[in-house]
Parts: sequence; structure tokens; C-alpha cells
Amino acid sequence: MMVRARRPLVAGNWKMNGLRSSAAELSRIIQGAKELGAVDLMLCPPATLIALFAAAVAGSAVRIGAQDCHAEPSGAFTGDLSAEMLRDAGASAIIVGHSERRIHHNETDADVRAKALAARRAGLCAIICVGETHGERENGRALAVVERQLDGSVPDGATAENLVVAYEPVWAIGSGLTPTPADVAEMHGLIRERLQSRFAKEGQATRILYGGSVKPSNAKELMGVAEVDGALVGGASLKADEFLAIADAYR
Ligand code: 13P
Repeated sequence: MMVRARRPLVAGNWKMNGLRSSAAELSRIIQGAKELGAVDLMLCPPATLIALFAAAVAGSAVRIGAQDCHAEPSGAFTGDLSAEMLRDAGASAIIVGHSERRIHHNETDADVRAKALAARRAGLCAIICVGETHGERENGRALAVVERQLDGSVPDGATAENLVVAYEPVWAIGSGLTPTPADVAEMHGLIRERLQSRFAKEGQATRILYGGSVKPSNAKELMGVAEVDGALVGGASLKADEFLAIADAYR
């Protein structure tokens, strides 16, 4: 059996989808998780469902994460949620810097870094997303763009406990398109190099996920690429059977 340096993580990002009735899907995931190999499973539902889902996964191997947070612990920020509140609701991680937040909410690398620090302050893991646009890849700037995002978004003092990096090419999200395994290997190799040079052993142990149109049909190939330690799954995570089939790539 192959021994992995890092335990893989398959995380589902439900984005703005899901009602309390979706707990049935979560129950199927909890059931299915018992049959999986050595892989961590996490679901990041909308914030309205975190407390309900956290209660449902208690005692199981499934963890619950959030999709965003405010950088401050509390204050006059109508509509926002702090990392402390998300932890209090039962989250153990927070996705920060997803391209949909960077694009639709104008989040900068500095904003993302502040949010990652907020997650750490609350004792949670930050899943920091980076990724180039289609135009940036076409212009041969993908590596430079991701390196800049990574350096600007990942705070000093990161450890394998408080950081997960997700490489999500913007053009691959929800499009059915994926980069070639060679392109994924090149990007994950670069991310690993940067993490190792900044955080030494911790950078070596930090998990780097691939995200963007991951499906049961391509999971094995993508998860088999060097330095890919799991997936951040959008659309396919909404259906328990598809999400579990992706995690099954690690059997
Ligand atoms: P899809 O899996 O739907 O392409 O979304 C990926 C994503 O954005 C996960 O954060």
C-alpha cells in the first residue's frame, strides 16, 4: 500500500445552495464516510446550516467548514460573521479568498490574509484559495499570478494545522473544464516550493487541494497528480453519491 506524506482532504463547498431539508444529503455523506479509506471529509454549507450540520456530524468523521468570515472578532459590521461566531456554530475551518469572493466582493490578497489570520485567531483552519483566470493562463501568467496571490494571501506563521491551500483555476470552476495533469502538477509544485521555502517542515506537511470541475469521472486522475492532497468540490458536492465517489478515489 502506498504511504502518503499527507492525509488527503476532500472538502465540499456548497456555495449559496442548501436548506434545512438538505440535511438528508448530509446524512448520506455521514453514512458513506464509514466505508471510505484514509481520507478526511469536510462539508462547507452556507452559514445558516453550520450549527445544524455540526450537530449532525458529531461523533462522525465528517467536519464542517464555513465559506467566508469577517476579519474582526465582533463589531458594527451588519450582515457579517466573525471567525469566532463560525467556530461557536461548529465550524472547524473557513474557506477564505474563494475566487467568487475575490471577484464579486473585490477581496484583495490583503483582505484574504486578514481573514486567514482571523480564522487562526479563532483556532480554525483557513482554506486559502488561489487561481488564475482564463486570460491569465492564455497569456502565460498563471504561475506568476498564483505565486503573487499565495505570497500575499498566506500569513506568516502558517502551519499544516492552520492552513490548507486550494488551487482553483477560475476558468475551471463550474465550467466542466480542467487543466491537464501536467499543468496541475506544475502549479502544485510551485505552491509546494513556496510553502516549503516560507514554512519549512510545516510547508511540507500543508495540504494543497485542487478545485474546479472535480467529478467522479476525473477524480482519480486529478487526485493522482503529484502534490495534490485532495479536492475542493463545488457542484458535485451537492449530491452525496457524487461527493462520496470523488472521495473514493483514495480507496
Ligand atoms: P465546481 O466543482 O462546481 O467547479 O466548483 C469548484 C469550486 O469553486 C469549489 O470551491
